[in-house]
Amino acid sequence: MHWRTPLVRPAVWLLAIASPWTFLACQSTDPSGKAPTMTLLAEDPHSYSQPQEAWIRHLSLDLNVDFEQRQLVGSARLDLETTPGASSLHLDTRDLTIRAVRGPEGEALPFKMGTADPHLGSELKISLPPHVTSVTVDYTTAPEAGALQWLEPSQTAGGKHPFLFTQSQAILARTWVPCQDTPAVRFTYDATVRVPPALMALMSAENPTERSASGEYTFRMDQPIPSYLLALAVGEVEFRALGPRSGVYAEPEVVDKAAWEFADTESMIAAAEELYGPYRWDRYDVIVLPPSFPFGGMENPRLTFATPTILAGDRSLMALIAHELAHSWSGNLVTNATWNDFWLNEGFTVYFEHRIMEALYGRDYDEMLALLGQQSLRKEIEDLPTRDTWLHLDLAGRDPDDGMTDVAYEKGYFFLRMLEETLGREAWDEFLRAYFDDYAFQSMTTERFLGVLSDRILAPHPELAASLNIEEWVHGPGLPANCPQVHSTALRDVSQEAEEFLAGKNPQEIPTKDWSTHHWLHFLRSFEHPLSAEQMAQLDAAYKFTSTGNSEILHDWCLHAIASQYEPAYGALRDFLVRQGRRKFLKPLYKKLAETPEGLQRAKAIYEEARDGYHPVSQLTIDEIVGYSAEQGS
Ligand code: BES
Ligand code: ZN
Repeated sequence: MHWRTPLVRPAVWLLAIASPWTFLACQSTDPSGKAPTMTLLAEDPHSYSQPQEAWIRHLSLDLNVDFEQRQLVGSARLDLETTPGASSLHLDTRDLTIRAVRGPEGEALPFKMGTADPHLGSELKISLPPHVTSVTVDYTTAPEAGALQWLEPSQTAGGKHPFLFTQSQAILARTWVPCQDTPAVRFTYDATVRVPPALMALMSAENPTERSASGEYTFRMDQPIPSYLLALAVGEVEFRALGPRSGVYAEPEVVDKAAWEFADTESMIAAAEELYGPYRWDRYDVIVLPPSFPFGGMENPRLTFATPTILAGDRSLMALIAHELAHSWSGNLVTNATWNDFWLNEGFTVYFEHRIMEALYGRDYDEMLALLGQQSLRKEIEDLPTRDTWLHLDLAGRDPDDGMTDVAYEKGYFFLRMLEETLGREAWDEFLRAYFDDYAFQSMTTERFLGVLSDRILAPHPELAASLNIEEWVHGPGLPANCPQVHSTALRDVSQEAEEFLAGKNPQEIPTKDWSTHHWLHFLRSFEHPLSAEQMAQLDAAYKFTSTGNSEILHDWCLHAIASQYEPAYGALRDFLVRQGRRKFLKPLYKKLAETPEGLQRAKAIYEEARDGYHPVSQLTIDEIVGYSAEQGS
């Protein structure tokens, strides 16, 4: 175990006191050994918890996984830290049935459930008798719990066993664990989980590599994490080692393909450590989930959850692993204090992801990825309400999911790249290394970050500081004029070929032999206006897009097929929408379909068939696009 107790280093402590940004929040252990304190640095509009009064230090879960009833049944013991005079513990819950709340001797503790809000759920307020610092909540989850997806055997590769996985980010942990569901509170955890004996259980913790004959698994996570990183997966999975501290879990039908695809994982860990300091979580494993997983990846500590749609067969989609691995520093170590600061998680991670990709595959390769990201950002900015194009978001009263746009990811990335390019890579890297180290296991607000940046680099250079336009990047719309330029000669050549194709060049004459996924995506994205039926047919004949096994390319091709009403691809489009549930692919396709009345009809028909297979997270998004309401059917 490499982890150390996160003491605030004296030097940093002084710096924080001297800085104007100290009104932000952090949880710290007093070096004098006195009681820990919780200073709230920012209000979290998405949590009922009031951690200044009492906060969770450790969670002990005991859960039975009941596939028949689609329920988790068990208890959560919460070990607390309290401030003197604390009289209640405030927890977040959503759709949980609370059977009892008990004190350390098993005595019943009075509790009250608040009124339910559709996004936030209900507050669970527990009365704390004096000196009580541990409470146990006995509870059952709802079959429709937002974080849980219960899969029928038919939705797995093996087809024989059911599967369950969680998705806690952003505020769904509360649908399976009563907790302080705010990224500002961190706790360690242990768990006992009972599952049907044919299945393996895995968590964002120290994990088994073999099945347990009894179906009982125990877990420990000794590093403190925020609730959104709580994770559980249960299914028939096998393990393959990738390197000394990395490996992959997947269904037996998929696991060897996954191990081949992710062969570079161990080198990525080494590259990441070289950049920003030691990997602090011991092991880095990935589980490839069934295709209904609603995201590309989720950075659950020690065990990234990933979609099988990145198994392209040519290792071309490894950026996703670089991304989730990078979160082991940006996000999991230094954590956004609220979802308004989401760019601190994702923008930093995209920046770090690019640095890993550049280290492994070279600058030219990474510039292709950067250009695709910038183009997608420019498009998205056109469609977003202005306020949602600031880096520092205002998501109060809304689902924090609304903040999951290219702004947090790509505008965040380009802001940091601008800082790198202006300050010089060496100074910037040194700053980042110290930043991850000094604020490890703490939460960070946008203001606090800007304070650290100012104190450590900018203060002695006021003119340079003013030239960066920081205020415009963080609290202003769109992309400021000093956004870095991306240079990709490879993709410039591709644009050229796309233009020539539009001017009549025969696709057979385009030199595509060495094109990667990224060249193809750029090629397809070069066509702004719908292609004619003849052009679509020509491209399809030359490149077999309709039958491609590459999910990214198929997605972009299907967008063209919808726009051009290219019927030969309709079957592939339908299959793609039914057989996988990654929201990044579903959303644009359903949206594009919904642009015309006939398209909307087709979208509804496909959705009717596909909806049951999607995770609640994807259902929520697509319901809105096609106007689906559960009571009426579509
Ligand atoms: N942490 C995110 C996923 C997430 C964000 C889930 C907000 C719920 C709420 C993860 O790291 C992520 O960004 N995934 C991306 C892939 C990445 C390569 C950009 C995804 O799933 O598309
Ligand atoms: Zn991410």
